[in-house]
Amino acid sequence: MRLLVCGGAGFIGSHFVRQRVREHGDTVVVLDKLTYAGRRENLQDLEGEPKFAFKQGAIEDPAAVDGALALLGAADGIVNFAAETHVDRSIAAPDAFVQTNVVGTYTLLEAARERQLRYLQVSTDEVYGSIPTGSFTEDSPLRPSSPYSATKAGADLLVQSYFRTFGLETVVCRGSNNYGPYQYPEKLIPLMILNGLHGDLLPVYGDGLQVRNWLYVEDFARAIGIAFERGRPGEVYNVGGPDEVTNIELVKRIVALTGASEEQIEHVRDRPGHDRRYSLSSERIKGLGWRPTVTLEEGLARTVAWYKANGWWWEPIRSGAYRAYFEQQYGRPLRTG
Ligand code: NAD
Ligand code: DAU
Repeated sequence: MRLLVCGGAGFIGSHFVRQRVREHGDTVVVLDKLTYAGRRENLQDLEGEPKFAFKQGAIEDPAAVDGALALLGAADGIVNFAAETHVDRSIAAPDAFVQTNVVGTYTLLEAARERQLRYLQVSTDEVYGSIPTGSFTEDSPLRPSSPYSATKAGADLLVQSYFRTFGLETVVCRGSNNYGPYQYPEKLIPLMILNGLHGDLLPVYGDGLQVRNWLYVEDFARAIGIAFERGRPGEVYNVGGPDEVTNIELVKRIVALTGASEEQIEHVRDRPGHDRRYSLSSERIKGLGWRPTVTLEEGLARTVAWYKANGWWWEPIRSGAYRAYFEQQYGRPLRTG
């Protein structure tokens, strides 16, 4: 296939691009704005590969989208990972979330409609809000809590409207919490791994009894490929991980894997509007043949080993703009030594 992958220089997008080029022989053009979260380094092993090209640009800029599609030539579709993704940043400054997640998605949908391209939107379990017991199905109502999840829900509804109104072939994939190599250290798992390795404090929001359903990034990337190839037009597919765990239990497991001490754990002010529990029913995507293959135990061990071995990747982040972000978010400096 020939794919335009938006946001392909981010965490999940880079795994997807690597799988499609290396394992499926697809030709991929990545369009990415390279925000703080997007990095060419995430794809550096594909540089020079004839089936891969990169264009820097924003999805809300129609000229950038046209330029990327022109690079690709006859395209089979658009897969959109591009988004502002961090809930805490959406609480501090929502505007970029509205621009990228809503206006950007609209711009891509228009480009897809003009050319009648198949379109896959990468979305999140956060659009459903919190569920105390049981699991959300694709028919559950959308009740987003944060500006991040509200903009993702808005984007999902736009995508579905393009299917119903214009007959565009669309698919939406809603994933649970991803983790694995190349995840920016503002997110819970890499933050705790790197702070653990640096003897720094481990900031748990509130009582730490919130529950998340963890999905190894390569499993999510594979689900997106399957949904793009075989998903029914107009359909939504939930993609949940195999294990759920409270945040505090997860942090204790990371403490053990990094050789840190439980005394480093500190309970800090809770996130406003913090969803208590996420859980997805993934029966529909399982009907397309997808299964998660990596348990939390295995994936966490692999992820800790990757961060230990790849300081070249995270050292420039931790010594750059991330320090100011950390200090503003947590009210104290990051320990880097
Ligand atoms: P990320 O923050 O690591 O990467 C986002 C990428 O999008 C970056 O490369 C960034 O440069 C790019 N980008 C941001 N704004 C852009 C714009 N205006 N134009 C072009 N590119 C832009 O995010 P991620 O964790 O890899 O998430 C990817 C997608 O998956 C997002 O849509 C997110 O909502 C969704 N998702 C994430 C998770 C998770 O746990 N991380 C779970 C489910 C769904
Ligand atoms: O559920 C899917 C979502 O997962 C994606 O849509 C988002 O893009 C992605 O950022 C992620 O959102 P979360 O808010 O669940 O992830 P985060 O890593 O920010 O937080 C995970 C949990 O850990 C959450 O309950 C908040 C808590 N947390 C997080 C941080 C950064 C802490 O207790 N301390 C922290 O310092």
